[in-house]
Amino acid sequence: MNEEQRLQNGLATDDAPKQKTTEKDYSKYFESVYSGPSLKDAKKRGKEEIEYHDNFQIDPLFKGMGQDRKFHIQTFGCQMNEHDTEVMSGIFMALGYEWTDNVKEANVILLNTCAIRENAENRVFGELGHLKPLKVGKPDLLIGVCGCMSQEESVVKKILKTYDQVDMIFGTHNIHRLPEILHEAYMSKEMVIEVWSKEGDVIENLPKVRRDNIKGWVNIMYGCDKFCTYCIVPYTRGKERSRRPQDIIQEVRQLAAEGYKEITLLGQNVNAFGKDFDDIDYRLGDLMDDLRKIDIPRIRFTTSHPRDFDDHLIEVLAKGGNLVDHIHLPVQSGSSEMLKIMARKYTREGYLELVDKIRTAIPNASLTTDIIVGFPNETDEQFEETMSLYREVGFDMAFTYIYSPREGTPAAKMQDNVPMEVKKERLQRLNKLVSDMSAEAMKPYQDQIVKVLVEGESKRNPEVLAGYTEKSKLVNFRAPRSVIGEIVEVRIIEAKTWSLDGEFIRVVKKEKVMG
Ligand code: 5AD
Ligand code: SF4
Repeated sequence: MNEEQRLQNGLATDDAPKQKTTEKDYSKYFESVYSGPSLKDAKKRGKEEIEYHDNFQIDPLFKGMGQDRKFHIQTFGCQMNEHDTEVMSGIFMALGYEWTDNVKEANVILLNTCAIRENAENRVFGELGHLKPLKVGKPDLLIGVCGCMSQEESVVKKILKTYDQVDMIFGTHNIHRLPEILHEAYMSKEMVIEVWSKEGDVIENLPKVRRDNIKGWVNIMYGCDKFCTYCIVPYTRGKERSRRPQDIIQEVRQLAAEGYKEITLLGQNVNAFGKDFDDIDYRLGDLMDDLRKIDIPRIRFTTSHPRDFDDHLIEVLAKGGNLVDHIHLPVQSGSSEMLKIMARKYTREGYLELVDKIRTAIPNASLTTDIIVGFPNETDEQFEETMSLYREVGFDMAFTYIYSPREGTPAAKMQDNVPMEVKKERLQRLNKLVSDMSAEAMKPYQDQIVKVLVEGESKRNPEVLAGYTEKSKLVNFRAPRSVIGEIVEVRIIEAKTWSLDGEFIRVVKKEKVMG
């Protein structure tokens, strides 16, 4: 039993208040022993240089730790988290653990969590509840919480207080320390907490076990310095740190050599890539220009911030080839006033100008976006501006969200006069527009032939295969399973609202990527 649990059970610890504690005493004592993350520290952006390391090694002491043991990781949230799971899986495998799909069989279960909205967090707490009974009769089982939620002090405190089934909590900057954290969790009977509030260095040679061998994720940068007033990410993922171009190019070349067909470059704000280099002038446009020469069919990136989307990048994307003509460009709101309070640092007009530039250079570009409705004090007129911007741009699709206050962010302190009912009604209206316009965007595909990267069985029907076009349209069709992993031509026989049904024509022979 640790000090925290002792305290909860009314037992004295060495330096805990000896009498029965009041809530106030408890909080005071808690603050004095608490050693988890701090959002205040996470907000600081130091000038220190980021160091790059490529000497990750597993201490021989830990080799064999995973012998006869299995691990399971449940991933919540974005592709960044999915990719972190690939890295953690690589570390587990290097330690000798085996992957299992079945939590009941696992000796270590990790929840790789998302902090972006409250409902994402509630799902994690629910899951922790479900996992608790697995501990019964299985003293060797370790349950861990990692990812963005572990960077939040309120979450760590809640877990300490209420979820004693958790054996370890570690942060997004501590992933490379997984062997040490596991070791400590096996040795100690207390909850192991290792969360660095401040980002660490960039570590290059971490092992990875990729989810599949068709589409690969490649980090190009970590962190975010934008501090949009609603967003927790700059606190959970640290300051912007770009990977060195040669490391990224080498990784993409390696994936191309292994037969991968599509690469997604990842970053919280990929357009800020290279801003932190002080020895070279090299930005996302330069990187895309170099990557386009690699012999791999498709390269995409996510996610973009309109503010840093520069002309050179547009010029390079217009060269086409393996650079796909789908751009996800989160707008968040169509009202300049709202954008200002969100600290997005562009206006409605600025966004429309950027869209114009993109469309002039890449006339067929498909644009998708993210939108938040019901930001504090959003008026009906301001919401209508979002609706009209959506129509004006003619987005193909959008991810839409009701604003969720995140503790520690500036927006969470704003008074809000918009009732939840109104927010929900706005979301419904927006979603109707999004689905109507998605159906519109699908119509022209009727009877056309599209190129599809086949990913596997469709989710709904295992006899049907599914894959995506360059513009990220989902296509379902029947074909032999041998075409999984290939780029194929499909004739569209039915354009639906969110997907296309088609007939398989043939496998596309390898196209030479331009040099
Ligand atoms: N509430 C609702 N949506 C949010 N997003 C980010 N923070 C919040 C929040 N506090 C949305 C934004 C972002 C996407 C990944 O999640 O639209 O682009
Ligand atoms: Fe969630 Fe954002 Fe963290 Fe991704 S980066 S896991 S979306 S909070």
